[in-house]
Amino acid sequence: MITAVEKTYKLYQEKMQELADVNHAISVLNWDQETYLPQKGASLRAQQISTLTKIAHQLATSEELGDLLHQLSEQENLNEWERRNVTESLSAYQKKQKYNTEFVVRLSKVTSECYQSWLKARTASDFSIFQPALEEMIQLKREECELLGYDEHPYDALLDQFEPGEKTSNLLPLFKDVHQQLVDFVKEISDRSQVEDQWMYKYYPKDKQWQFGLEVLEQMGYDFKAGRQDVSAHPFTTSFGSNDVRVTTRIDEYNLYEMIWSCIHEGGHALYEQGLKQEDYGLPTGNYLSLGIHESQSRLWENNVGRSLPFWKANYKRLQEAFPENLQTVDLEKFYKTVNIVKPSLIRTNADELTYHFHILIRFLIEKELIEGSIKVKDIPQIWNQKYKEYLNIDVPSDKEGCLQDIHWSHGSLGYFPTYSLGSFYAAQFYQQAEKEIPDLEYQITNGNMRPLLQWLRTKIHQYGKFYTAEDLCIAITGEKLTFQYFMDYAKKKYGYIYGLKTK
Ligand code: CO
Repeated sequence: MITAVEKTYKLYQEKMQELADVNHAISVLNWDQETYLPQKGASLRAQQISTLTKIAHQLATSEELGDLLHQLSEQENLNEWERRNVTESLSAYQKKQKYNTEFVVRLSKVTSECYQSWLKARTASDFSIFQPALEEMIQLKREECELLGYDEHPYDALLDQFEPGEKTSNLLPLFKDVHQQLVDFVKEISDRSQVEDQWMYKYYPKDKQWQFGLEVLEQMGYDFKAGRQDVSAHPFTTSFGSNDVRVTTRIDEYNLYEMIWSCIHEGGHALYEQGLKQEDYGLPTGNYLSLGIHESQSRLWENNVGRSLPFWKANYKRLQEAFPENLQTVDLEKFYKTVNIVKPSLIRTNADELTYHFHILIRFLIEKELIEGSIKVKDIPQIWNQKYKEYLNIDVPSDKEGCLQDIHWSHGSLGYFPTYSLGSFYAAQFYQQAEKEIPDLEYQITNGNMRPLLQWLRTKIHQYGKFYTAEDLCIAITGEKLTFQYFMDYAKKKYGYIYGLKTK
C-alpha cells in the first residue's frame, strides 16, 4: 500500500526528474557546441538552447511543483534524505520566485551587452570601453542582492548562488590568513634559486599526449563506459547524469603542462559527478553540493595527488618512455620540482597553486567593495594594479593582462571567484584526513593504485550530493570547519622540500 505522502513525494520526484532531463538536454547541446558543432549550426543552436532554457524555467517555477513542495514540507513522516531534498528544493524554488520578469529581462539584456563590450575592451586592452556596461551590471547585481535578501552583507546573496550558505564574514578571516601567511612564504620561495623547466616546452606530439592523458584518467578510476574525453578550446566537465559524464582537454604540442594537469583536474570533477547517486537523479541529494566542493575534488586530484612525488613515481617512467628525446635526461626528482614551480605571474589561469590565491583575494576584495559601494567601477584598473604590486610584487603592463583577463564579471558572475580558493583549502583539509584514514595511501599511489583514495572520496563526499551543507560536510569528514591552516601546512611541507627552506 502506498501512502498519500509517498504518492506526493513520488510526484515531486517525477517533476524534479523532468526538470533534470531538460537541463541535461541543454548540457548536451552546450557540450556539442564546444566540441563538434559545425560553424553554420551556431545560430540555430543558440535558439534551441534558449527555448529549452525557457522550458526549464517554467518547470522550475511551476505552481504544481510549488504546491507539492509546500505539501511535503508540512509532512512529518519523511526520512532524513527526503526531508533534506524537500527543504533544499523548496528553498531553491522560493529563490526563483523572488525574480520578477522585468528584472530577468533587464539582466539578460545587460549580460549580453556586457559580454560584447568586454570582448571589445579586451581586444583593445582598454578598460574604459567596458566601464559603462560593467557599471550597469554592478548596479543590477546590487539590486539582485536586495531582491534575494541577506542577513549580514549584501555580497552574501551573490556568494550563495555558487557556494550556498557561504558568508563574507567567513571569507574575510580566511583571506586574511592567506594574506598574512602566504605572502611571506612566497617571498621566502622567491629568494631561493628557481627551478628550470625548459624541457616542458619542447615538441610533444599530440597523439602521444592524448594517449597519456587517457591512461591517467583510467588510472584515476574515471569510468569510460560512463563518459568520454574530447578536445575543446577550454577544458571542461559536463554531466548528463552520473552514467554519462564527459570531459574535454586541450593539447599544446609545445607545452607539456597544458594537457596533463587539465586532464587530471577535469578528471577530478568527473569522478565527483560519476560518484553521485544514480537513484537520486534530479534530486538535490543526487546533485553536487557547491562549486567550492566541486573544485575541491578537481584540485585534490590535480595538486595534492597529480603534483605529488608518489604520483610521479607511479607514472614518470611511462611519460619518459612516451617522450624519450625530451625527458631521458630529466630525472624524476627534477621533473617533480619542475611541475611545482612557484612564481608570481599576471594571469590567474596560469598561476601556480600558491600564488593563485592572491589572484582570488584581489578579485574577492574588489567584488565585495563594488557591491558595498565603497569603490567605483572606474577605479578598478588602478586598484587592481596596485594590489598586484602589493600581493604579487609585479607590475601590470596592460588592462588585457590585468583586470580584463577574466570573463566572469561580463557574465555577471560575481561571487564565483572565491569558490576556486575554497576548493583548494577544502582539498588540503580533506586530503590530510584521507592520509590519516588510509594508512598506506602514499604506498598505494606510488604503485599506481588510486582505488583506495577514490573509494574514500566516494564514501565521504560523492554519495551525499547536497545532503550536507559544505560546512557540515567538512565537519562530518574532518571534525572541524574549513581552516586555512591545513593548506598552509601542506604548502610548507611540500615547498619547503622543493625550495630547500628551513621548516619551522
Ligand atoms: Co575546475
